[in-house]
Amino acid sequence: MKIIALLGSPRPKGNSTRLAQAFLEACEERGAAVERYHLNKMSYQGCQACMGCKTKAEACILEDDMTPVYEAIRTADVVVFASPVYFGDLSGQLRLALDRFYAYLTPDFASRLPTGKQWVVFLTQGNPDETQFADIFSRYEFFMKWLGFGPNHLVRGCGLGAPEDITNHPHLLQQAAALAKTVLGR
Ligand SMILES: Cc1cc2nc3c(=O)[nH]c(=O)nc-3n(C[C@H](O)[C@H](O)[C@H](O)COP(=O)(O)O)c2cc1C
Repeated sequence: MKIIALLGSPRPKGNSTRLAQAFLEACEERGAAVERYHLNKMSYQGCQACMGCKTKAEACILEDDMTPVYEAIRTADVVVFASPVYFGDLSGQLRLALDRFYAYLTPDFASRLPTGKQWVVFLTQGNPDETQFADIFSRYEFFMKWLGFGPNHLVRGCGLGAPEDITNHPHLLQQAAALAKTVLGR
């Protein structure tokens, strides 16, 4: 099993990253190969709407730190997205990366990706009210299904401000680790 993780927080030991790491480490213990991409440390642009992926090539023609990510995701069995909630949405770091997924669509807007990949989302927010920002996942789910992604799992952490706040919520870290068995099926 190959797992690719896009970690969208600028805080390397923040809540969303720690939650994702609990899952990823449990996956590694079960034999999965994990590649982590700390987006904030990478140099890449958002989609430039150049249409190069529709008119010149069957892939993104930009060359930056997203280039290896495209192939990594194409060959992955599971893709993990982790992000803090910023202004009611994903972090800008993850948003830019997701805009680049436009290159996975053909000129007819069919997916170039193998279908059915599992995907897992870890979202953390400062607001303790879980009814707030509950729409984020479903908005992106629409596009992920369009891209051919399959079964998904969402873990949300609410009321998390300081980077280490997640450590006061061991049940969430346990939930993330337990998800490894569900996703890997072993
Ligand atoms: C720029 C910025 C915008 C934020 N916007 C929201 C928001 O809209 N709703 C919310 O509940 N928390 C918001 N927060 C708080 C973060 O979502 C919260 O602290 C989260 O757990 C941080 O995750 P991290 O530790 O993985 O970076 C914001 C924080 C920052 C820095």
